Amino acid sequence: MKQDIAEILFTEENIAQIVKQLGEQISKDYEGEEITVIGILKGSNIFLADLIRHITVPVYLDFMVVSSYGNSAKTSGVVRILKDLEEDIEGKNILIVEDIVDTGLTLAYLKDNLLRRNPKSLKICSLLDKPARREIDITIDYKGSDIPDEFIVGYGIDYAERYRNLPFIGILKREIYE
Ligand code: IMP
Ligand code: MG
Repeated sequence: MKQDIAEILFTEENIAQIVKQLGEQISKDYEGEEITVIGILKGSNIFLADLIRHITVPVYLDFMVVSSYGNSAKTSGVVRILKDLEEDIEGKNILIVEDIVDTGLTLAYLKDNLLRRNPKSLKICSLLDKPARREIDITIDYKGSDIPDEFIVGYGIDYAERYRNLPFIGILKREIYE
């Protein structure tokens, strides 16, 4: 697996530091409130597990599965909900947790979809952001780090369902997906 990585962008230590800071900021901003954290599976799973352990206000968890790239490294632009929330979010503080914002199409769709369910508030947290590839304007309220326009894997993030278990985040060699 490791031989398929061209360059490590974030070591385990780098990631731990970023995630801790995000958790502390979120805890501060929601002081005295409760939040419903919505993980977008599967990519955000490992990030979410680490993040919520740095959140000190009460947290409810729910998950959504949306259609992604399949086995291709390019987005289709079509978003489908494969698994919806289990709970009603009306009147709740919602925090969407995503692994990467790329074109922004997935989050723009999800935000619009969830806002129609009348939450009290809705914010977005993404570990990584590829601003170079944005196709639609979307505000990321809590962002771990920007990354260059490369295909990355590790720490829950996959290529064709592989590499999720790498403890670091790295750039996948082009020859793997081209
Ligand atoms: P968007 O709708 O184009 O913003 O797509 C976001 C989703 O695409 C992310 O949640 C990831 O699942 C996936 N994605 C985007 N860039 C990468 C990448 O570099 N590696 C793996 N998955 C990616
Ligand atoms: Mg994803």
